[in-house]
Order: sequence, then C-alpha cells, then structure tokens
Amino acid sequence: MALLRVRGFEIRKSYLDGSRQRALVDCLRPVLKAAPLFSPEVPRGGKMSVRMTSAGQFGWFSDAKGYRYAERHPRGTNWPAIPAEVLEIWHDVTGLERAPDCCLLNYYGEGARMGLHQDKDEADFSFPVVSISLGDDGMFRIGGETRGGKTESIWLNSGDVVVMGGAARLTYHGVDRIRFQSSRLLPKGGRINLTLRVVT
Ligand code: SIN
Ligand code: MN
Repeated sequence: MALLRVRGFEIRKSYLDGSRQRALVDCLRPVLKAAPLFSPEVPRGGKMSVRMTSAGQFGWFSDAKGYRYAERHPRGTNWPAIPAEVLEIWHDVTGLERAPDCCLLNYYGEGARMGLHQDKDEADFSFPVVSISLGDDGMFRIGGETRGGKTESIWLNSGDVVVMGGAARLTYHGVDRIRFQSSRLLPKGGRINLTLRVVT
C-alpha cells in the first residue's frame, strides 16, 4: 500500500486487497438489485456514458433541470442503505465520526468516461469526498480549482482509494477512459467507482 499525493488528492494505492475487493462487490449486489443502474440525462441534453445509482439517504441525480441530490431512485423507491463494509473505509481514511449520507455508484462500461468537473452539489465542502475504485483500470485526470490549465493523470486500479479533501476539495477531476477488461473482478468487465459524500 503506497500513499501518493497529487495536487492535494491523497491516493492510497492498493488500499483494498483482492479479498476485500471481492467482498465489496458482493455487498454491492443487493444495492444494485434494489436500485438498478440508470443513465442520467445531462442538462445540456444527451445522456452520460457512465451508468449510476446510489445508496444512502440521498442519491446524486441529473436530468434536463440540472444536477442535484434526490431522496429517491428514478423508480420512486428510497435508496438502499450504504453497506457497512463501505462505511468502514470512509471512517478509516477520513478519521471522521460523521457518516456520509450518499454513496454514488458509477459504472463505466466499455468506452465510458466522465468529463472534468468539480463535486459541488454538497452543502459543506469541509467534508472530503472519498472515492473507491473496483474492476478495470481508469485514467483519472486531476486539474486545478478552475477549468483549463494544466492537468495530471494517474491510473486508478482496482482497490485504490482517493481522498479528495481539504484545499483540494473543489479540484477539477474526471476519468478519460478505462482499460476495458483489464481486471477480472467484475464478471462482465467494466469499472465501478464509489464516491462517498456528506450532502447536507
Ligand atoms: C466522480 O468524480 O464522481 C468519479 C470519479 C471516478 O470515477 O474515479
Ligand atoms: Mn466527481
């Protein structure tokens, strides 16, 4: 396990070993069953290439009206609870007592990507965002506090955990591409990224 710092992001390489990665995938199955993946619309029109769902009191959501948190899945049901195994990672890497109230699950299939953005739909930026990567490798791009300017890229591999907090909480970031089927963790390939956030 190595700790890298890139532009204020704390990147814990191989934080989860293979058996913890498999345990995490197992605890996400009932979440995906209760709250199936959907393809959010973006305000500008069109759909995101990443499919997503959430666990916790709030789920992140996007449609023609904008980006926001919602208390229900588009199907109208409450989001399932955040699994204990996921919460444990949050408490360990942040040292916080307060639990996150959203776990966004992004699924990147072949060709999916996520453009550079800031996570800024939350009420209090003093809480970090914690990201957990599972499955295929993803090329993670880190910019600055404003759009434009130089960026740095780093491959995130299965089991890596990133803490985006402190002065870097509003740093632009995105995923350029994945190496489809570079990992055998997920039976159909692809990459899962979980982000844990305090919303209210
Ligand atoms: C995100 O910024 O919401 C996802 C980041 C990632 O997939 O690594
Ligand atoms: Mn983000």
